[in-house]
Amino acid sequence: MHPKILVLNGPNLNLLGTREPTIYGRTTLVDIEEACRRRASALELEVEFRQSNHEGELVGWIQQARGTYQAMIVNAGAYTHSSIAILDALAAADLPVIEVHLSNIFRREAFRHHSYVSTIARGMVCGFGGFGYELALEAAAQLLRLAAEAKSPGTT
Ligand code: DQA
Repeated sequence: MHPKILVLNGPNLNLLGTREPTIYGRTTLVDIEEACRRRASALELEVEFRQSNHEGELVGWIQQARGTYQAMIVNAGAYTHSSIAILDALAAADLPVIEVHLSNIFRREAFRHHSYVSTIARGMVCGFGGFGYELALEAAAQLLRLAAEAKSPGTT
């Protein structure tokens, strides 16, 4: 069985393709999901891809992730900068988290420079548009490979 990765998307990311295209481009969330599925299959990973505009729904999904998924890729949208509830849920889930943003949040307004998710994430990819999700999947695959190798050296 392939390792399972939960890819979570926060508010307004359902609008990708038409939302502020000069910042986020013309790629839709469906395009990103399809690219993730292709990349995941090449990496022998399984992906579950979700989006919600509701903080509580995202918290619920994160709570349920423990025991089912081996890693999470999280673009929490604006909740990145505001949600201690999402941070606490990610900490409780006790899974490797890779943070993703389409835009380079450090080139934007000062309020986007702080990320609660970053305080728990293993790493962050930002500024490469939808391609960042594929880079995050590569990172997840590598993290899981290294973890498996550390558990049973010499068998992989
Ligand atoms: C975003 C960056 C956030 O600051 C913003 O609120 C978003 C999208 C990104 O992917 O670049 O909704 O997470």
